[in-house]
Amino acid sequence: MKIGVYSGRKDERDFFDRAASRCGVQLVACGAVPDLSNYRAAEGCRALSVITTPISAKLLDAFYSVGVRYISTRTVGYDHIDVAHAREIGMHIGNVSYSPDSVADYAVMMILIAVRKLKAIVIRAQGQDFSLGGVRGRELRDLTVGVIGTGRIGSCVVRRLAGFGCRVLACDLHENDQVRLAAEYVPLEELYRHSDVITLHMPATAENYHMIGRESIGRMKRGVCIVNTARGSLIDSQALIEALEDGRVGSAALDVVEDEAGLYYNDLKCVNLKNRELAILRSFPNTFVTPHTAFYTEHAVRDMVEYSVESCAAFCRGEDNPWLVI
Ligand code: COI
Repeated sequence: MKIGVYSGRKDERDFFDRAASRCGVQLVACGAVPDLSNYRAAEGCRALSVITTPISAKLLDAFYSVGVRYISTRTVGYDHIDVAHAREIGMHIGNVSYSPDSVADYAVMMILIAVRKLKAIVIRAQGQDFSLGGVRGRELRDLTVGVIGTGRIGSCVVRRLAGFGCRVLACDLHENDQVRLAAEYVPLEELYRHSDVITLHMPATAENYHMIGRESIGRMKRGVCIVNTARGSLIDSQALIEALEDGRVGSAALDVVEDEAGLYYNDLKCVNLKNRELAILRSFPNTFVTPHTAFYTEHAVRDMVEYSVESCAAFCRGEDNPWLVI
């Protein structure tokens, strides 16, 4: 049984080899980013493993025409795939549920970096400015942290925050009893009104596109710190920039930004980037930006690869596939 792999990285190689031999499948390296120039490499594979690169309706049709019937993304989010079109043509889609601790650890680190003004401290120290002016931080135990989205990752974040002694407010459509042990569920409005830090942990959907924008920022505490390790589309970058400029938002730590596709995970040091919002955000001393690396731990990469291969093998054999989305 052949499984096609797109965008396979060197650091995934050993995990792929081990998973393939455990599942008794043959892997076919189909190329870098899947697109209309290389879809034919998938011929003979009923299932594919891909990562966060966009899979458009046209590309889905192309894969279908060469016999692909299942696409497993080695990611939790699947907003890069045109799922509605996949459903129409009968292409099945799956994701993976890797270690949520990878992103949860990172989110807490981002919160600390923001509230302790670490970016400004480090930049200044590099220029031998060891003065204290302007870099006094705040202690988490004195703050209220609002966690929006308490699924697998958000609930891990809540558990970690409990150890810092801060007040934790949570908001989700589906409440979780474990989360209730360390956080108080409140309506979104209340979370906005009372939180000193707001951290986002929900998937990107059409409904929550730009949920953090001019209007919602206006309902938050002045000087709020916003942390995003979820999806760039949750925040209106332009509105965030304006709010950071006038102090309505006091700081931000962003592992994801709008229109990051094609930029992140590439070495672009000699390229003028076509993402002005990213350039402005990176220029602010109170805005810490990382290139969508919250997931990137050994544990999580192993999970992503193994579960994706297992999921493809299960689909091809008609076995139970816990990662099937449609
Ligand atoms: C996801 O799994 O949804 C992620 O955000 C990580 C991915 C970009 C590799």
